[in-house]
Amino acid sequence: ELGGYEDFMLKEIHEQPAALQATLAGRLDAGGRVDLSELGLDLSGIERVVIVACGTAYHAGLLGKSALERLARVPVEVAVASEYRYGDPVGDEGTLVVAISQSGETTDTLAAIEAARAFGARVLAVTNTQGSLITREADAVLLTKAGPEVGVAATKTFLTQVAALYLLALGVAGVRGARPAGELEEIGRALRRSPEKVEEGIELLGERLMSEAVGVFAGARCALFLGRGQSFPVALEGALKLKEISYLPAEGYPAGEMKHGPIALVDEQCPVVAILGEGTLREKTLSNVEETVARGARVIAVANEGDAAAERIAQSVLPVPTVPEILSPLVSAVPLQFLAYHVAKARGLDVDKPRNLAKSVTVE
Ligand code: M6R
Repeated sequence: ELGGYEDFMLKEIHEQPAALQATLAGRLDAGGRVDLSELGLDLSGIERVVIVACGTAYHAGLLGKSALERLARVPVEVAVASEYRYGDPVGDEGTLVVAISQSGETTDTLAAIEAARAFGARVLAVTNTQGSLITREADAVLLTKAGPEVGVAATKTFLTQVAALYLLALGVAGVRGARPAGELEEIGRALRRSPEKVEEGIELLGERLMSEAVGVFAGARCALFLGRGQSFPVALEGALKLKEISYLPAEGYPAGEMKHGPIALVDEQCPVVAILGEGTLREKTLSNVEETVARGARVIAVANEGDAAAERIAQSVLPVPTVPEILSPLVSAVPLQFLAYHVAKARGLDVDKPRNLAKSVTVE
């Protein structure tokens, strides 16, 4: 079953290109046009989107928000399902609730759907499990096709959730005419190539680079993951991966928030993992990271291949291939999965079955 891999988590990280490919197949043509007619939903009438989810799926939801708002210009709220269900939520028939759940069995996510039903929302489920409870509660289902995920830490299901949300954003943007068709198709074509880019990224991360990065964690007592824009949810996901399998306290923060509190944590035993991203935000993140270096932080940077500024400030650079900025989370999440994996293995831990955790949370 492990197919030569030491653990399921490692196997599932490597399965990501194929999982992405399967999720995009039949929904995105060679010209970059998206077809979501399988949903049977009228995407043109959506006035507002609410995304509900837990854990890793919530982080995918944050990325879905940024894609939907940027491409489709629809307002999006993202809520942790356990909060949303008790929050007396506001909405109407023009609200599309997108409930994301790998297992399709998470109690809080199911209860959040019920809460939204009370105001007449339509519900789209994004799930990896055909026939799960969520598929029965929803009006429409967008299936991620990652295949079964055994490791408790979500990896390939995260990437496919993000890809599914990009498809949704492109689909909604198309029917609303929110962006020129040519621009959407260009992103669509790049999304179609994302499985190759993720594969390329996996190949870039040789053993030497990974052991250098793990070396930065020697003696660490905590870690800070920093990013801005789309790299912020990636930072949250990187921190969650690290804490759940290595048991190191880790926080994901928007890099610009550092001086409002968390920079007090910084010293040689609290490495900073910086997801630099691209565009103007890269410069901003770099300057936030430089401030941590001045306070003794050891830095791991996730940056494009050949990023000289990253090489200058970081003890270790985990390179990612260049993709259009909006798709960058698909490549930048992967080195963080490997990082968490190798740090946990270096500590002799069971990465597939971390303590205190279950693969699916069917109690409140
Ligand atoms: O099955 P779900 O997607 O609803 O599960 C939600 C969370 O429990 C899950 O994403 C959890 O955070 C991950 N296993 C963490 O890696």
